[in-house]
Amino acid sequence: MIHIAAAQVADLPEIDSLLDARFGPARRNRTAYRLRDGAAPDAALSFVARDGAALIGSVQCWPITLRGAAGSVQPLVLLGPVAVAAAREGQGLASALMRAALAAADALARPPVLLIGDAPFYGRFGFSADATAQWQLPGPVDRARLLLRGSAAGLPRLGWVEPALPARRAA
Ligand SMILES: CC(C)(COP(=O)(O)OP(=O)(O)OC[C@H]1O[C@@H](n2cnc3c(N)ncnc32)[C@H](O)[C@@H]1OP(=O)(O)O)[C@@H](O)C(=O)NCCC(=O)NCCS
Repeated sequence: MIHIAAAQVADLPEIDSLLDARFGPARRNRTAYRLRDGAAPDAALSFVARDGAALIGSVQCWPITLRGAAGSVQPLVLLGPVAVAAAREGQGLASALMRAALAAADALARPPVLLIGDAPFYGRFGFSADATAQWQLPGPVDRARLLLRGSAAGLPRLGWVEPALPARRAA
């Protein structure tokens, strides 16, 4: 019986194993990791999929910030990684995890959600690269894969995506 549940701290070792299996240990060299180094995931927006006791999918979200050229500092949510066990692909699990995370973000009035990923997949959840062309990250990023969900109203056109300020980091 497959179910989606809020991710717990105790799930982290299993989530790490799934991520190592799907992305390889070199995943930690990715630019997204520079945005969340030392941060804890946003527990209210992070979910796991289990089949009985087995962890078969995960989505995590993290607090980050967008600093504008004029000095503005805007909180954002960084979504990812999303991963599903290889043997369970194509069953709608990633989509269910995405819907759970985004519904929670909406219900809790969280800031806009940013991710680095494939637009053909994430576009169906309302993500696009339209607003992010001039946002800089602490590492290389494929511009077509820097995707924001929803309206960019009020967000700077030119900005720096950075780790969350310490006060904003999840406990
Ligand atoms: C990508 C991943 C999370 C998808 O999980 P999943 O549970 O199979 O996804 P779902 O069943 O919810 O959705 C499958 C749909 O997404 C599409 N899809 C999956 N990955 C895609 C991609 N990279 N680009 C475009 N479409 C993609 C499938 O073609 C399928 O389309 P359909 O609904 O029109 O048939 C999973 O393959 C995975 O863990 N891959 C390895 C890690 C990874 O690449 N994560 C994403 C990082 S950007």
